[in-house]
Amino acid sequence: MPAERRPAPTIRRLVALAVHLGSLLPLALLLFAGATGQLSVNPIQDLTLRTGKTALVLLLLSLACTPLNLLLGWKWALGLRKPLGLYSFLYICLHLLIFAGVDYGLDFGQIGQAITEKRYVLAGLASFLLLLPLALTSTKGAMRRLGRWWRRLHWLVYPAALLAVLHFLWLAKTAREPLIFGAVLLAVLAVRALRSLGAPARIANRSAQPPAQGSEKRHG
Ligand code: HEM
Repeated sequence: MPAERRPAPTIRRLVALAVHLGSLLPLALLLFAGATGQLSVNPIQDLTLRTGKTALVLLLLSLACTPLNLLLGWKWALGLRKPLGLYSFLYICLHLLIFAGVDYGLDFGQIGQAITEKRYVLAGLASFLLLLPLALTSTKGAMRRLGRWWRRLHWLVYPAALLAVLHFLWLAKTAREPLIFGAVLLAVLAVRALRSLGAPARIANRSAQPPAQGSEKRHG
């Protein structure tokens, strides 16, 4: 079993800062590109694609934290799940707002039609609806109130991520990139499944440890 690798508090604070800055950077770049007219000839599509991609990257990064702890003993990574998950949700909300508000001008008839006619829109919506309760219950108060149900509820993040990858696969012109995201998700799920089955001692032992202080509230 690998010993827990616990970097110095300064390093951990720097990593946390990098997560916040790195998560906000795509938004800053998007705002800058919009303000300086550097978006593509189809700015709405540009905004939709960039917010969607960022949301998926952050969601998968948040899911990768638990395997990093299980496999490498990076317990400190558990504390990054919540900010990464919430930043992902921020980009999903922007993605949805651009789609419904800017692209479809809040025309609910047309939006309804898109949901029923385009399977990738339905998959995206289903993913959003699964992630919504997770974002709403990310506070300490909600965690306390929900007790053990909080952890169960947060398993929804896996079907939500799967639907997000399907959403990407169904809209993309080539399958290569969505399949790379899918492979990362499958790797994360494989580690979780091995742990649940109690297979390798190393993984099982790791998971038997109590959650890191301040990290037991997070999903994944
Ligand atoms: C109601 C929910 C959603 C709607 C209506 C929606 C809609 C869209 C639309 C219209 C596109 C662009 C299609 C195109 O122009 O070719 C798109 C792309 C994308 N969306 Fe969504 N989406 C939703 C939820 C999500 C969620 C939850 C995620 C991820 C967590 C996500 C990730 C992506 C990705 C990765 C792309 C492709 C980006 C690229 O090709 O670079 N979407 N979405």
